[in-house]
Amino acid sequence: MDSILVRGGGKLSGQIPIAGAKNACLALMPATLLSDEPLTLTNAPRLSDIRTMTELLGSLGAEVTSLQEGKVLAMASHGPINTRAEYDIVRKMRASNLVLGPLLAREGHAEVSLPGGCAIGARPMDIHTDGLAKMGAQIDLRDGYLHAKADGGKLRGAVIDFPFASVGATENIMMAATLAKGTTVINNAAREPEIVDLADCLRAMGAQIDGDGTSTVTIQGVDRLHGATHRVVTDRIELGTYMLAPAICGGEVELLGGRIDLLEAFCEKLDAAGISVSETENGLSVTRREDQIRAVDVTTEPFPGFPTDLQAQMMALLCTADGTSVLEEKIFENRFMHAPELIRMGADIEVHGGTATVKGVAKLKGAPVMATDLRASVSLILAGMAAEGETTVSRVYHLDRGYEHVVTKLRGVGADIERIKS
Ligand code: UD1
Repeated sequence: MDSILVRGGGKLSGQIPIAGAKNACLALMPATLLSDEPLTLTNAPRLSDIRTMTELLGSLGAEVTSLQEGKVLAMASHGPINTRAEYDIVRKMRASNLVLGPLLAREGHAEVSLPGGCAIGARPMDIHTDGLAKMGAQIDLRDGYLHAKADGGKLRGAVIDFPFASVGATENIMMAATLAKGTTVINNAAREPEIVDLADCLRAMGAQIDGDGTSTVTIQGVDRLHGATHRVVTDRIELGTYMLAPAICGGEVELLGGRIDLLEAFCEKLDAAGISVSETENGLSVTRREDQIRAVDVTTEPFPGFPTDLQAQMMALLCTADGTSVLEEKIFENRFMHAPELIRMGADIEVHGGTATVKGVAKLKGAPVMATDLRASVSLILAGMAAEGETTVSRVYHLDRGYEHVVTKLRGVGADIERIKS
């Protein structure tokens, strides 16, 4: 298995282009199942998760053609659709569950494997299934698969109150509701930019959706959706990750395509830590104001709060801050797997339940480390870039799921990093 070798040291300078959002693209791709006309996505990221979704959609009878080295995905679902999403593919990636709503809306039934656990927590699907049940679906769990069937072969509109603003459930219900009979209202909907991006695409396909980006989303069902071309929104998590590179190493880096409105809560915390973010003609520029990072407390929350997907990377920054920072993880119950690895690099971190207390140390030291999830892996790379000596990060396949050309992008701003082929 490949690994990544990082030598800590110098300041960074230059530009990093930010890709289209993985999490938006993974929700946009299943939307192709809602129409028999072509759906084309531009600004798609080149990632293994996108290849997994391509494989899943292919197994369902959709065609996904990767053009311009993967930056454009031309999709079509005009043939017969297979409604069974197999465990072998679904288990690789939880976002596979996003085919459930579209399959049910189009075919009136679907059999989708439950994704199973993942490193950061149990992640059940009750919010998705309770919402679809309100729309008239009967859903049973048999043999590890959700067997869903719409009453009378067609979903109907409903008022759905989410107990928690789940991103995936908002996406699934929103897609299902586009072709349902009548109006669906989602209360306590997730407000993430990826939801707005999906709504924009669905509207371009002829869907009637209002209120996306707020807590109440209203979808008026239509008889059919048509084809469209849609540009995937900027990846705010890739953006935030690379904003932390000059924050940790010093120097100044411009993030091409970056937008503050995607990351306001995160930018406020960077400012409090002593990092300046300014808008440029082509994106955002990030630089450290003082030699010493200041400690800040962080609590993860649904958008517009501080994103859970940037918690591990922020922890890497705070390891060398002046003072003690408290990080509270409110979205996932088991998302501090990077802490023991950072401790191996000399960090002073104590974890109690959903709270991590980070006492800043003068310097981290390079070490062989590994991570169990995508964001944890990249936090170890960031930590390695600031550490004395060499850090080797193994289990690189996690990184390939969510960061395209990570080595090239960081080398481009002066980081001493390379991929070691095994
Ligand atoms: C999405 C993102 C992921 C991000 C997360 C939270 C994608 C592909 N992934 O994941 O990167 O970390 O949002 O911002 O977009 N929950 C339930 N029952 C459900 C659904 C969720 O209890 O039916 C719980 C989960 O276990 C978790 C919390 O709700 O604790 C948030 O999950 P959710 O917002 O659904 O995240 P995902 O859509 O899976």
